[in-house]
Amino acid sequence: MATRRKIGFDIIIYDSFVELEESDRRLLEKSVEARNNAYAPYSNFHVGAALELENGEIVNGSNQENASYPSGLCAERVAVFYAGAKYPNVAIKTLAISVTSKNSEVLEPAAPCGNCRQSLFEYEYRQKSPIRILMMGAKGKVVECSSVADILPLGFDNTYL
Ligand code: THU
Repeated sequence: MATRRKIGFDIIIYDSFVELEESDRRLLEKSVEARNNAYAPYSNFHVGAALELENGEIVNGSNQENASYPSGLCAERVAVFYAGAKYPNVAIKTLAISVTSKNSEVLEPAAPCGNCRQSLFEYEYRQKSPIRILMMGAKGKVVECSSVADILPLGFDNTYL
């Protein structure tokens, strides 16, 4: 017999950056610094990602576009691949993402795209501990999620292979 199951998760919404703990504010500030280094001449959409690792290191990434559009890469994947290359055995605790655009004021936090969710999911699965995610627009409201698995329900991992 068929069963119906609802899959849901909680998020925390902070009205302002100042409500966050100091370490989270610092990480979001790092993501803002990172987004200033975005190379986004085609979309004008600048994304910064900052990862806080278990060893205290912070690893940054920003989106890197390309005249051949699909050859570019999102900020989150630049950051997570860099962390994987530099600190292969160090768990990631938190990912902070902030976005801004030269075309319009972005006041809503932007969540990672589907491809980034899948890439991040691999790292979360590998380290066997959740990666917390903080998201912010150009300023203002911050959204917190407890794990990548939450934002990628029914995710694909290597148990299927
Ligand atoms: N982008 C990211 O860096 N992360 C996301 O999760 C969504 C999109 C970048 C890709 C492209 O350079 C620009 O934002 C517009 O899509």
